[in-house]
Amino acid sequence: QSVARMETLIPTINRLQEVFLTVGAEVIQLPQIVVVGSQSSGKSSVLESLVGRDFLPRGSGIVTRRPLVLQLINVAPPQERLKIENGNGVKQNAQNSYPGVKAEEWGTFLHCKNQIFADFQEIRREIEAETERSSGDNKGISPEPIYLKIFSPKVLNLTLVDLPGITKVPVGDQPEDIEAQVQEMILSFISNPNSLILAVSPANSDLATSDALKLAREVDPDGRRTLLVVSKLDLMDAGTDALEVLLGRVIPVRLGIIGVVNRSQHDINTQKSLEDSMKDEQAFLQRHYPSLASRAGSRYLAKTLSRLLMHHIRDCLPDLKARVTVLSSQYQARLNSYGQPVEDHSATLLQIVTKFASDYCNTIEGTARHIQTSELCGGARICY
Ligand code: GDP
Ligand code: NA
Ligand code: MG
Repeated sequence: QSVARMETLIPTINRLQEVFLTVGAEVIQLPQIVVVGSQSSGKSSVLESLVGRDFLPRGSGIVTRRPLVLQLINVAPPQERLKIENGNGVKQNAQNSYPGVKAEEWGTFLHCKNQIFADFQEIRREIEAETERSSGDNKGISPEPIYLKIFSPKVLNLTLVDLPGITKVPVGDQPEDIEAQVQEMILSFISNPNSLILAVSPANSDLATSDALKLAREVDPDGRRTLLVVSKLDLMDAGTDALEVLLGRVIPVRLGIIGVVNRSQHDINTQKSLEDSMKDEQAFLQRHYPSLASRAGSRYLAKTLSRLLMHHIRDCLPDLKARVTVLSSQYQARLNSYGQPVEDHSATLLQIVTKFASDYCNTIEGTARHIQTSELCGGARICY
């Protein structure tokens, strides 16, 4: 569970964000993760398992009808926040001060800023209500995003985007050119070079016709920021399996191809928990894809994303070091002009950054080497 929620990265990123803030640099902008795919391919389900909470509307037919920009914000746990509010020694900063909020995890929407949603079922209902407000109740779509923030001690500071799926034939109040409109909406998000594209394609339809991969290729022809998620492994026809697809022998994908089993509509109706779903997913993979089980599934997807984010951070480090060095020499110059010793904080900062760079890059390289030798990535260079 902890890996699934990418918790391992949290302390690292928090520490680095602090360093960045101290040197007046912009905080590290992590890539935003955008899910793309045909309608009902399982996009919302995949996002939910990444966040580790039930809160997105899911289901057959067109459910996601507006982009949902989901900003995850890491906050201190309630006991610690309480200490901060009482002024008990813990350093106060904008990140960990939410006076009056008792919940451990909660959400807020841009369209009703002051309302705290501590109940995740309420969050889902509000997404549905807000979708109807702008897109009507008859399957209409709207390019206007819903902005949701989720505050939790268990999330990374990261932005995820859920999008309506690609459809061909208009239904209900949908315009004649629904396909073009949705494509334009998707392209506007994934053409951002800072977007990591999660292309979701169901295992029970032909990968060669994957709308998700087709769109991803338009904006990312070299596949430097596209990861393929093959959903619905459990729904393939008897006698068929996705092994060739998962091994990249049908269509290779540089960053990797990861098979998952999300909750079925029946699981949703009977309110199966995410935890149980992940257990069953792992059992399914062991049974049907024993040679791949350790490199498939929702947990492995989360781990892979963490690794890609780490690479991104590593690429930001040289610039961070350069900024700290400049700051350090500015300090030095000022010290000299005062003619008296003043504590030089930048040296400490430089140490933190340098130590981080060596520690974490070693870890990253280790992981990358491990992954590169695996069949899934086929030796592809990992670009994030
Ligand atoms: P989206 O339209 O792409 O966002 O897809 P959803 O996440 O809303 O899922 C659409 C439907 O497919 C829902 O009924 C899900 O329960 C079902 N579904 C999604 N992924 C899987 C899967 O891996 N296996 C099974 N059996 N059903 C799935
Ligand atoms: Na759907
Ligand atoms: Mg959806």
